[in-house]
Amino acid sequence: MSNSFYKYYQKTPKERMEILEKEGLIDGTQIPELSSDISNTMIENYLFNYELPLSVALNFEVDGQKTLVPMVIEEPSVVAAASNGAKTIGNIETVIKEKNIIGQVILTNIEDIKETCLVIKDKEQFLLDKASEKTQSMIKRGGGPKRVWAQGFEEDGDKFVSVYFSVDTCDAMGANTINTILESISDSIEELVGGHSLMRIISNNATESVAIAKANVPLDRLNEDKDKAIEIAKKIELATKFANLDRYRAATHNKGIMNGIDAVVLATGNDWRAIEASAHTYASKDGKYKSLTSWKYDESNEVLLGTIEIPLPVATVGGTISVHPIAKWSLNLMGNPNAKRLASVMAAVGLAQNFSAVRAIVTDGIQKGHMSLHARSLAKQVGANEEELEKVVTELKKQSKMNADVAKDILQKIRDEV
Ligand code: MEV
Repeated sequence: MSNSFYKYYQKTPKERMEILEKEGLIDGTQIPELSSDISNTMIENYLFNYELPLSVALNFEVDGQKTLVPMVIEEPSVVAAASNGAKTIGNIETVIKEKNIIGQVILTNIEDIKETCLVIKDKEQFLLDKASEKTQSMIKRGGGPKRVWAQGFEEDGDKFVSVYFSVDTCDAMGANTINTILESISDSIEELVGGHSLMRIISNNATESVAIAKANVPLDRLNEDKDKAIEIAKKIELATKFANLDRYRAATHNKGIMNGIDAVVLATGNDWRAIEASAHTYASKDGKYKSLTSWKYDESNEVLLGTIEIPLPVATVGGTISVHPIAKWSLNLMGNPNAKRLASVMAAVGLAQNFSAVRAIVTDGIQKGHMSLHARSLAKQVGANEEELEKVVTELKKQSKMNADVAKDILQKIRDEV
């Protein structure tokens, strides 16, 4: 990261934009806006836009490539925690084997579940060819339908067979594509196996869009004092162990991961409900809701090893992305990644976010970090100008009590000294 980003957090928003421009990361400092005309085409009964702060996380290096990470979030400390986590961890390596969307045609009135599943298996190529008719342009781009399989279910005498299609939708999210395929193919499936199609819809259990990211944190990055560093590494390991044992903790642990991921999902115009649904379903894939990350202290190599495994069915073209100027701006800031690269960065953000959160809660607690931002907001509240702001914040953080009265006194003292 270039020196221009030194104390970036202390700059004004205008100065921050100018630095991005100077670094050649954005074209001009004009702030992109979602116009009401565009919004009015996005949803029904549109009234006005609800705004959230957009920020940028620093220090991320993913697969050897540095990147700035746009984040949209209202919660204080998330961006600072992501940036700090990324700084400590250093390069994060990722693996994404595939990025396929799954959809299902669900059949009822099935006579024989086993026989129906066998026919589907037998006719997989026929079904793939049929599905391909609707996805010629996607096939030209290297995507298209990849696999068909079936599974039966039975409850209270009702028999169901779900016919699953997985489709490589390239850089698009692909919900429309898969739903079009499913709706066009369900008659052929009924003709093949009998039964009635109850529904044809995408599945948000995105098991074929899984991203894995790995961190390797040397002890000296955790603390200068080796014994303290080992203690922190072991506590972070215990924290993930416990998250796998207790759902109360697992929910919060994973919420912390999603703090970072959702913020990037929002900034890039992706569907955060889909990402949330797939993440939490994946967290319970073994029949028990568990942590999406794992941290282990490797004693022989004296490193803390971290892994996140999470489905990230995200897109970099189409849908909201093609109409939302801020989503386009965010992707441009990241160097216009393809969907797999975007998923890699998001996985890295989830891992760094989790690292920071867990490190904080097993050491100082999270209030310390929150207090810096609280101090900043108090300083603003009592009228500190740009020049006074950092001085008030520094003094406030030294106090045992932090409130508007204390901030007012500090500001007065600073003004008296001038
Ligand atoms: C707060 O938004 C997120 C944390 O609670 C996550 C965690 O506890 O791991 C700090």
